[in-house]
Amino acid sequence: MSTFIKGLEGVVVAQSQLSYIDGQAGQLIYRGYHIHDLATHSSFEEVAYLLWNGRLPTRAELDDLKHQLALNRQLPNGLLAILRSFPTTAAPMAALRTAVSAAAMFDPEAEDVSLEASRRKAIRLTAQIPTIVAAYERLRRGEEPILPREDLDQAANYLYMQTGQVPDPENARALDRYFILLADHGMNASTFAARVTTGTLADMHSAITSAIATLKGPLHGGANQKAMEMLLEIGQPDKVDDYIKRALAEKRRIMGFGHRVYKTEDPRATVLRRMSKELCEKMGATKWYEISRRIEELVTTEKKIYPNVDFYSASVLYVLGIPVDLFTPMFACSRIVGWTAHVLEQLADNRLIRPRAEYVGPKDLTYVPIDERG
Ligand code: CMC
Repeated sequence: MSTFIKGLEGVVVAQSQLSYIDGQAGQLIYRGYHIHDLATHSSFEEVAYLLWNGRLPTRAELDDLKHQLALNRQLPNGLLAILRSFPTTAAPMAALRTAVSAAAMFDPEAEDVSLEASRRKAIRLTAQIPTIVAAYERLRRGEEPILPREDLDQAANYLYMQTGQVPDPENARALDRYFILLADHGMNASTFAARVTTGTLADMHSAITSAIATLKGPLHGGANQKAMEMLLEIGQPDKVDDYIKRALAEKRRIMGFGHRVYKTEDPRATVLRRMSKELCEKMGATKWYEISRRIEELVTTEKKIYPNVDFYSASVLYVLGIPVDLFTPMFACSRIVGWTAHVLEQLADNRLIRPRAEYVGPKDLTYVPIDERG
């Protein structure tokens, strides 16, 4: 049996054509295309097509995908009724996890694990997840959910469903770029969970429910919310030094820093830092960018660890008006594309994923009848 490696660090568990990460050079590539090029030139829908199909779409193919997404955004009435029954105090990630699991029961192809049906379900889930997040957000505020619009893209439509206002195109484009940047990322924990579930030939909704449950943790997708909570707690640029020095002295983790794979700057953080600066300036909220920059200076100098995707995502999502506890659901609105692409890749060449554990407990103990135990 091979040697145990805690946290599976460096262990290769699949071959994938979806995304390539060079942790030393700080590069991220989707299906051959550098993330900076995609963030500059493409749209989230184009990236979804690329990840699902292995090539960029023609205009007609992109229009068709957008049409499919628009047609599938509305939630079945039964699912909406379930959302209405949730306590308004539920964590939005818990609501999303439960709603996606429940969505299976309204999906006509839920139990069909063929590649063709799974492709259709990938589109449906990508279309529905933002609607679930926005609907729960409104319900917990005591407001009625807003129906999705067919004429808006994924990002603009999410902002519309949350607020009831068609968003400023620059803000919609910022969320669209955020969605591009987070769409896939190698064998991260939630993707691994999705692939393990698929490996048993369980259905797409089961795999995505596993993935959402795994994304929820603060060491993974939950870090963006924790990073914003830290910015809010600090509150002012001149309070950063005291806060961070104390946190580091107390050996606390600074959320949004460090990465298992990147040993240099996460390339997504480079784009998000620039977006944070531009958006904070545009929205008249530069202090969030200033606080973030000062935290970065201190943490990179003192700990030699760099911001990851979640650090500058925090100020970007905040100034876009996303409630702080919806940051991780926003991550899910994007990563659903990567998860489903991995499910399709796993299904196309499946083998049960079943590693071993190294047993380190006792052996050969003598069974003592219950009445004789001291
Ligand atoms: N703040 C302070 N110290 C840190 C941090 C941090 N954010 N990250 C790592 N370290 C230190 C850690 O204390 C340890 O030091 P020592 O060797 O002295 O004990 C060393 O760096 C190695 O840490 P590790 O936990 O063994 O490394 P890992 O590869 O398991 O860590 C990580 C990866 C992401 C879990 C970790 O960096 C972390 O907890 N970061 C904060 C949470 C976070 O931002 N998560 C988002 C990750 S990226 C997006 C995503 O996947 O969702």
